[in-house]
Amino acid sequence: TTIDNLSRLSLLAKKLEDFLGIRSVKVVDGSTENSSLGIEAAKQFMNEIGDGKTVAVTGGTSIALIPKYIKSSMLQKDLLFIAARGGVGEEIGLQANVIAASFAEACDSSYKAFYYPEALGEEAHKAFLKDPAILKMIDLYNTTDCVLHGIGDAQTMAKLRNSSMEEQQLLLEKGAKGESFGYYFDRSGKEVQRLRTVGIQTEQLQEVPLIIAVAGGKNKAEAILSYMASAPKQTILVTDESAANEMLRLL
Ligand code: F6P
Repeated sequence: TTIDNLSRLSLLAKKLEDFLGIRSVKVVDGSTENSSLGIEAAKQFMNEIGDGKTVAVTGGTSIALIPKYIKSSMLQKDLLFIAARGGVGEEIGLQANVIAASFAEACDSSYKAFYYPEALGEEAHKAFLKDPAILKMIDLYNTTDCVLHGIGDAQTMAKLRNSSMEEQQLLLEKGAKGESFGYYFDRSGKEVQRLRTVGIQTEQLQEVPLIIAVAGGKNKAEAILSYMASAPKQTILVTDESAANEMLRLL
């Protein structure tokens, strides 16, 4: 029955909350397509945003699922959506800037695009970091009220990003398992590698009152555990049953 279903999922969530030590875990029924991840994440966002204004989002399929389940009537109209980092590497519909725009549309609000060329050389990157527009963006991350982010499997993300064989090998050697915000983490939550990009910094993330991480699927279990090992304690994790079961098996 549905009741059994619900109590099974909330039991799983409770166990994970205890192990991960984060604010809360929501486990959705994994058998009903991944739209349930989007529905639950949208619900958490609408319930928790309060009078928050600035919302940073990452790219990826999980975060892209959310906007269509948002009811703008439940929100203030003057939210500002921004990309959590300025990448342009991904497929267009999955880029953080594009997702920020679709959130803005769903919420009757505005967005500010932040483009940053990926794969810059070290020198060019350093020069870019002094650009006033970039500095302004970094400053916006200081007043960010909410972050919605995905978590990926390290090897999968490295391949998706067309990292060279050497880079992929290096990630393996360093024990990279999870990836989020352009940072790669090992199983203990230690950052072992980062993309040369501009985005919200780890210290800034610590200060964000509302953080919603969205990631599901059995193959992401280890990645989620790795990221969560050092995730800010205020994080709410929205995941599905197959990832949840696998995480508990690995713990
Ligand atoms: O590339 C952006 C990003 O948010 C990564 O940081 C993360 O690993 C990935 O997307 C998650 O994507 P998906 O939700 O499609 O698995």
